Amino acid sequence: MKTILAPSILAADFGKLADSVREVADAGAEYIHIDVMDGMFVPSISLGMPVIQSIRSCTDKVFDVHMMVEEPGRYAEAMKKAGADLLCVHQEACRHLNRTIRQIHSLGMRAGVALNPATPVSMLESVLEQVDMILLMSVDPGFGGQEFIPYTLKKVHQLRERLEYLGLEKDIEVDGGINLGNVKQILTAGANIIVTGSAVYHGDVAANVCAFMKEFEEFQK
Ligand code: DX5
Ligand code: ZN
Repeated sequence: MKTILAPSILAADFGKLADSVREVADAGAEYIHIDVMDGMFVPSISLGMPVIQSIRSCTDKVFDVHMMVEEPGRYAEAMKKAGADLLCVHQEACRHLNRTIRQIHSLGMRAGVALNPATPVSMLESVLEQVDMILLMSVDPGFGGQEFIPYTLKKVHQLRERLEYLGLEKDIEVDGGINLGNVKQILTAGANIIVTGSAVYHGDVAANVCAFMKEFEEFQK
């Protein structure tokens, strides 16, 4: 599976967001990870459809929208219109997860399901076949710049093993507290999409993207 870098724009300077998106896209990142927070599912509020729409023209890279929102199905259509390619909803935030996944697909987007660190991967057993991507949070969602929670590594491993046992090739994305010091461990455990905010946007952005891509080389299949 392809190893992909998904920089989280949450760590960018929102005053020059368009430039920040172009910067990581030009440096070779394939996904743009966009964190949407509603102040209910998570304590903070970040950005929504108008902002996504206004940066859509910056790049044709995949807009990977992480919905930290209660009942995100309410916004699926608006997110599609704003430019989302991949809509990722939290299992913990959807009362009717099957319906929400179907809704995302029927709108022509890829569907991801995210799990908080304390939610076991077995919660997704029934939908593994249906989803395109599983996002395993490695921090409690809501803020950038937190520290990676070590036990989540075991979940990445468990999930990749389970997918292999079932003969399913699905993307596993990991999000939160990832840096150049721990990324190799996460890829070794079985992840293939890496979200990173602070480790890309703090310092020399292009150089940081390149450094991650370098770490990816040995995992590229
Ligand atoms: C956390 C967000 C993450 C976050 C990652 O709620 O979902 O995407 O921005 O940022 P870092 O890499 O700084 O932990
Ligand atoms: Zn995220």
